[in-house]
Order: sequence, then structure tokens, then C-alpha cells
Amino acid sequence: MKFSVLREFADGERRTPLSPDSIPRLTALGVQVAVEAGAGEAAGFTDEALAGAGAEVAPTRAAALQGAQVVCKVQPPTVEEAKALPEGCCLISYLPSSTERAVVEELVRRRVTAFSFELVPRISRAQSMDALSSQASIGGYKAVLVGAARLPKILPLQMTAAGTIPPARVLVMGAGVAGLQAIATARRLGAVVEATDVRTAVRDEVKSLGATFVELELEAQEGEGGYAREQSEEFLQRQRELIAQRVEQSDLVVTTAAVPGRRAPILITKELVARMRPGAVIVDLAADTGGNCELTRPGEEVVMKGVTIIGQRNLPASVPTTASQMLARNVAAIVALLVKDGELHLDFEDEVVAGSCAIHAGEVRSPQLKEALSS
Ligand SMILES: NC(=O)c1ccc[n+]([C@@H]2O[C@H](COP(=O)([O-])OP(=O)(O)OC[C@H]3O[C@@H](n4cnc5c(N)ncnc54)[C@H](O)[C@@H]3O)[C@@H](O)[C@H]2O)c1
Repeated sequence: MKFSVLREFADGERRTPLSPDSIPRLTALGVQVAVEAGAGEAAGFTDEALAGAGAEVAPTRAAALQGAQVVCKVQPPTVEEAKALPEGCCLISYLPSSTERAVVEELVRRRVTAFSFELVPRISRAQSMDALSSQASIGGYKAVLVGAARLPKILPLQMTAAGTIPPARVLVMGAGVAGLQAIATARRLGAVVEATDVRTAVRDEVKSLGATFVELELEAQEGEGGYAREQSEEFLQRQRELIAQRVEQSDLVVTTAAVPGRRAPILITKELVARMRPGAVIVDLAADTGGNCELTRPGEEVVMKGVTIIGQRNLPASVPTTASQMLARNVAAIVALLVKDGELHLDFEDEVVAGSCAIHAGEVRSPQLKEALSS
């Protein structure tokens, strides 16, 4: 079975789903690994390094795709890329419900079986395949570094002959995978960290990282599978009132609050930004799904009354080597699930195979994608 990795051309995307470490895991399955020349370059993996680990470097995209049964990339394909895929092949990539309709239609037309990173079930057995988690954790780490670099002050306590400098105050809103990594990173840098989440189940994890869990006297709607549920506007209004004082007192706020398939909840209004300390920074990791701050502009930096709101997109791609190493391990684990005795073998009785599959046999299977296409 031939497994091919395509080079990314999307703006700002520097990751690749293949690394020198992941190749032996794939070849051990009896898989022939091919990679489009230059695919690993932006992540620091040269063609020579990938070839040295056992991949065949294809000089052109057409050569990489020739006879490929599984094609893998990071970003959803463009229409052109979808058109170039071998008829009936398997595709592994991000495939959010916001994927262009024309792309989905082309995949359906070409009878491509599309597995999406977003759909990998978040169960223990599939942890090694969970790209959402591996990339969220990189995003949480980098959000703190980006915010710290913008702050006009340092994070740790300093007791020097020139006086005592108090530690900076960091507030993390949403303590899921990204939030927990943001907490850990801010703590390592010496900040005093507080965190909040509608899922009080995360309280102990927050505390074990040395942060304070901000208890809000609110009854949140319980979600399923460890996820939060969309809360009512009344709830969010009350939550904003209760958390306002913590936001005002913070130097750096990292927001990561998300509800699967929904717009991110607004936790910081523009009125609240106006009450923050001059020089304070908000890094909004929810920028791509609408933002947790009312002033966030995806892909931009907004300054309002001395407060900087950073809506940088795709933070994991700004740490491309580590993000790619982790993504490549996730992909190798997914491929292991799809291969038996060196041949492609799709077992739809397996809940991870069935759950991760967005499109199969000329049909859209994923309810999220179906819903998006019908609206
Ligand atoms: N394989 C597994 O078993 C597995 C893998 C990954 C995640 N999970 C579970 O899913 C959880 C969340 O995952 P995620 O990080 O991808 O979630 P996510 O990105 O969907 O959301 C991030 C966080 O925002 C929080 N949030 C939502 N609305 C909020 C609001 N109004 N105010 C404050 N916070 C709000 C959520 O509770 C969540 O903790 C994990 O902590 C874990 O319990 C399980």
C-alpha cells in the first residue's frame, strides 16, 4: 500500500504530517511511504532526512499521487487538490464542517474516503490518534509565549537590589487541553495563574498545576464526552459579570473557551477591555471560531485603550517542528488502524474507523458536515 504526503501551500501552514520518526512506524506496517519533495522543509525535515528514514521523495505532486491509496496532508484540500486525488483513495487531513462545499462535492464525486482529524473519537483507545489534543497543547504553550513577549513587564517575581518586582498575573479562560498547557507554561515562567472553566471537573487538574481555580457561583449545563455544552446568553451574561474583576486585574489573559460545532462564547466584552490595565494582553485562541473577546479579529492584532488583543491564527503552525512530530505520530497511529498485513483494510465495525470517517463510498457520513452542507 502506498501512503503519500503532500506539500502544504496554505498561507502560514508550516506543518507536515510526516516526520523522520514516524516513517519507520509506517514502514513497519508494510506501507510504502512517499512524500512530495519539499513537504517537510518548513518544519525542518529535509528531503534527505525523510529519505534517510525510509520515505521515497517524489519530485512532483503527480509522482507522489501516482498509485497512492492513502493521501495525507494537514489542511483540507483545495478544489484543485481534491480533483488531483486518485479516484477512490483515502484522504487523511483536517476537514472541518466549514470546508468549502465544492471541495466536499469533489471528494464525494471521486469516491474518496475522507478521514478527518476533527472526527477522531476522544476515547482512551484513540488518544494516540488525537491531533486536536496534540495541536491544542502546542497552541496553549505558544499562546503564553506570544502574550509574554508582548507584555511590557516580566512574568516572574524578582527580588533584586533594584527592588522587588511582583509576578505578573495570568488568567486562563477555558481549561481544556490548550488551557491546561497554557497554565503549565505560565507557571513555569513564574506568573501567578488563575483559571476558569464551566466544567468544574477540571478544578483538580488546574490546582495540580499550581494555579487557582476561580469558582463561579453558576450552574452550568453539563455537556457530553468531557466537552462543554453551549450555555444560555443569560448564563454567559452572569459569567462575564462574575469574572470581570479577575480580567481587570490580569496582565495576560489567554482565552481558549470553545463548544464543539458552535461559535466560541463571548467572555470578554469591549466594555471590559476598556477597564483592563493599560499594557495588558489578551491572546484569543478561539479566534478561528469567532473569538472569546468581542474585539478579536482573526489573524490580526487589535489595540484598544492600551490593551492588545491577539487573534493569531493557527498557532501550532508557528512551532512547526514539534507540532509536526506530534501530528506525524497521530497520523501513524491512524494509518495503523487502516492497514492489515500491509494492505488497506477499512473496518467500519471499529468505532474509531467509523467515527473518524467524514465521507465514504460517494456519501457524506459525518452529521456535522451534512448539517453544514444543508444550511
Ligand atoms: N481521548 C480523550 O479521552 C480526550 C481527549 C481530549 C479531550 N478530552 C476531554 O475533552 C475535554 C475538553 O477538550 P478540549 O480542550 O478539546 O475542549 P474545547 O477546545 O472544546 O474547549 C476548551 C475548554 O473551554 C471550556 N469552555 C466552554 N465554554 C466555556 C465558558 N463559557 N467559560 C469557560 N470555559 C468554557 C470547555 O469546558 C473546555 O474545557 C478535555 O479536557 C477532556 O476532558 C478527552
